[in-house]
Amino acid sequence: MKVGIVGAGMVGSAAGYALALRGGASEIVFVDLNEKLAVAQAEDIAHAVPFAHPCKVTAGGYDALDGAGIVILSAGVAQKPGESRLSLLSRNAEVFGKVIESVLKAAPDTMLLVASNPVDIMTEVALRISGLDPARVIGSGTILDTARFRSLLGGHLGIAAQSVHAYVLGEHGDSEVLAWRDARAGSETVDSFAQQIGRPLTDDVKARIDEGVRRAAYKIIEGKGATWYGIGAGLARIVQAVRDDQRAVLSVSIVTPEVQGVTDVALSLPRVVGAGGVLHTLTPALEDSEAAALRASAETLKDTASQLTG
Ligand code: LAC
Repeated sequence: MKVGIVGAGMVGSAAGYALALRGGASEIVFVDLNEKLAVAQAEDIAHAVPFAHPCKVTAGGYDALDGAGIVILSAGVAQKPGESRLSLLSRNAEVFGKVIESVLKAAPDTMLLVASNPVDIMTEVALRISGLDPARVIGSGTILDTARFRSLLGGHLGIAAQSVHAYVLGEHGDSEVLAWRDARAGSETVDSFAQQIGRPLTDDVKARIDEGVRRAAYKIIEGKGATWYGIGAGLARIVQAVRDDQRAVLSVSIVTPEVQGVTDVALSLPRVVGAGGVLHTLTPALEDSEAAALRASAETLKDTASQLTG
């Protein structure tokens, strides 16, 4: 499958690199206003291909997106130290207004994978501009937060993150919700597993893990100016689920008809992702406190999105 990447900055190039290494695409095309950057990223990643899987990596104009099965939208500005994701909204919405029309002119049947922050609202913006089926306008959402949650939980429990099944719901941002109630280690609840191995998940441990997930990006941005490897790998994971029709359960963002009483809002829930995009949405069992936090997250996104429409 040909994958387009519009925005050859750190996130877009990390996604392209991760895709090339995992063999997630037969062809990757970078498009960027800065043509020199797009060409350089493509050539650099093409030199990694001989160590990985066959993949044609090039750069071009929007017309080079012709036939792309998925186009990753990573164009726009990124958070500065201490800046919230939501504060990027107006600048990136303007960028999308210009980009999406050109993408669909070249690849009218493509699927859009939104990476630009604030990713949930940018997913809603992309849906509104593109007019595509909501199941085919996917935001990376909390796929990275879920990975961070699993990684920190696995670290505490002494098991591989891959054996932890836990999800972060709602906004990819400050109001996100760690769904502890349904979190599993293997087939056990994480609380039961933790008790069995003598490493209880006390309130303090849970608070540390929550903080570690919620503040991860801010901490990394303080140190290196931006994040890109984690999100790049997450984007590549979503692409592979689509390309191989894996029907993988991933916490991604799409405009959802109703979440905890809030209507038409893009946020993350566990969803089945395959060749057609999002095939099903799962409704996790939540504690009352988690349900209330998810509603608050949905309301935050709804209120912020309404700033765009006035
Ligand atoms: C982060 C960016 C992708 O959470 O929002 O690292």
